[in-house]
Amino acid sequence: MSGYPESLQESLAKVEETRPQRLEEARKQRYFLKLSPDEYDAILQKYHPDYQPEGRKPLQVGPNKGEFLQTELVAILQGAPWIDPGKFCGRLKTPDMSTDILVIGGGGAGSAAALLASEQGCEVILATKLRHGDANTVMAEGGIQAADLPYDSPYYHFLDTIGGGHFTNDKNLVRALVMDAPIVIKWLEDLGVMFDKEPDGTMKELKGGGLCRRRMHSSADMTGSEIMRVLRDEVRNHPDKIKVLEFCPAVELLLDEEGQIGGAILYNMDNQEFLVVQAKAVILATGGYGRLHLHGFATTNHYGATGDGLVLGYRVGVRLQNLKYAQFHPTGAAFPEQCAGMLITEKVRTLGAEPINRDGERFCHPLEPRDVEAALIIRECLEREKGVITPTGRLGIWLDSPMIDMIWGEGTVAKALAGKYLQFKRYGIDIAKEPMLVFPTLHYQNGGLAINEWGETTVPGLFAAGEVTGGVHGDNRLMGNSLLDVNVFGRRAGIKAAEFAKQREKVKALSLRHLEKYLKNLEESGVKPEQKTPIILPDYRNPEVKVKGALD
Ligand code: FUM
Repeated sequence: MSGYPESLQESLAKVEETRPQRLEEARKQRYFLKLSPDEYDAILQKYHPDYQPEGRKPLQVGPNKGEFLQTELVAILQGAPWIDPGKFCGRLKTPDMSTDILVIGGGGAGSAAALLASEQGCEVILATKLRHGDANTVMAEGGIQAADLPYDSPYYHFLDTIGGGHFTNDKNLVRALVMDAPIVIKWLEDLGVMFDKEPDGTMKELKGGGLCRRRMHSSADMTGSEIMRVLRDEVRNHPDKIKVLEFCPAVELLLDEEGQIGGAILYNMDNQEFLVVQAKAVILATGGYGRLHLHGFATTNHYGATGDGLVLGYRVGVRLQNLKYAQFHPTGAAFPEQCAGMLITEKVRTLGAEPINRDGERFCHPLEPRDVEAALIIRECLEREKGVITPTGRLGIWLDSPMIDMIWGEGTVAKALAGKYLQFKRYGIDIAKEPMLVFPTLHYQNGGLAINEWGETTVPGLFAAGEVTGGVHGDNRLMGNSLLDVNVFGRRAGIKAAEFAKQREKVKALSLRHLEKYLKNLEESGVKPEQKTPIILPDYRNPEVKVKGALD
């Protein structure tokens, strides 16, 4: 029995009808859908949500003043602080806690940073907004890249990464990313991560969009969750060295009177009190901003992904980089309604599933770089009007997952995509037998705070790692480079922050002068903040949050 409503049955029948012929062509690799570089550009310009002039405005304050960014992002960067510096400054004389290193963020980057910093002998506090591990790391499904097969090399990984990023990446960061990648895989495996293996015990490695070699290591389609499981356990195994504060997001960074980092003000969500933490070094690892729902898109991101680190870093003067284009993952769920926006991993296409329109036709290569693939799906739905419309008015195209078992053998979907298989089973859809309905979804920040290859920002003692940073992925990240990023730069920031903290004798008097300056800038520029930021949690009571893909 089908898990889809009657209104979609006619289109489903067409997908089934064309499947044998498409399978035959796929086996012979007979795709005639490859695009030229000029076509890539034209498609992005016309259909990618972030290439449109609408939905942007100029930043009026700070180091990126004058840059046109998405209105939702500008609103948080120019938001009103939680703290009144004049009233709060008395509290700074008697910090509530003091440590060598304060890590802000309890996802993959923050946990890796905390581990490496504590290994260097530093005392660490890890403060996280929700529970330790509630982060985009857990949401990453398909895999983690590392060039460790004989016919691959970090050289190819480098080229793929800067090609995918439209050559706007910071080459030093990419170099660090690809050179550390095999080290990270070994480190994770030694800690206990269970990667998929071939029968002979070697790593099972797949391709992803924009990759010239197989280098995607995975744990079924729950790679991020498996990595987070192990990193979190490892942190929790060292309570003597790493103190974890849950439900304590940071609302402001603190400098000392000499302009070096001094710590942060946390907000205890349990008792709604502020907490002053003094630290010799701070590592920002707060993740991304998917919950801002740029251009009204649904998102794959976890509930706390509201771009807090961008706000905190920008207010102390750190420049932002590569934030012009967000990443819209081509395949977010469009049905059932409860799952709208949920990630359908790229691994589904890696294993052979094709995006198919309402009439059962293939309309794009399955593994274009993500920005192009998303734009092609939007074109198919909005311009060619070949999308499927759900009973609640959402648009989508089919992702033909039953092809996978036909290519690789029965049982492959249930095993290699175990997470998705079970999620859809709950709604009566067997994705080994019926396709999934998908539409692009806001997935990744691409850019963020500028850092060097050791995670250092321009503020002495302030480090950053993971999705909150910008430069490594350029304007478009490739699959499998985010789980890698959080580990590579989390580890590096942990090592360097420890070095910094050890040579620092003491933190001088704490100050909020930077916040006074920021408020003055806002006033002089005539900016009227629209909201209090960091946001901390998205407000879904706001009727303005509409979801793209849903017809009005
Ligand atoms: O499609 C995916 O599995 C997503 C992975 C990633 O963003 O790296």
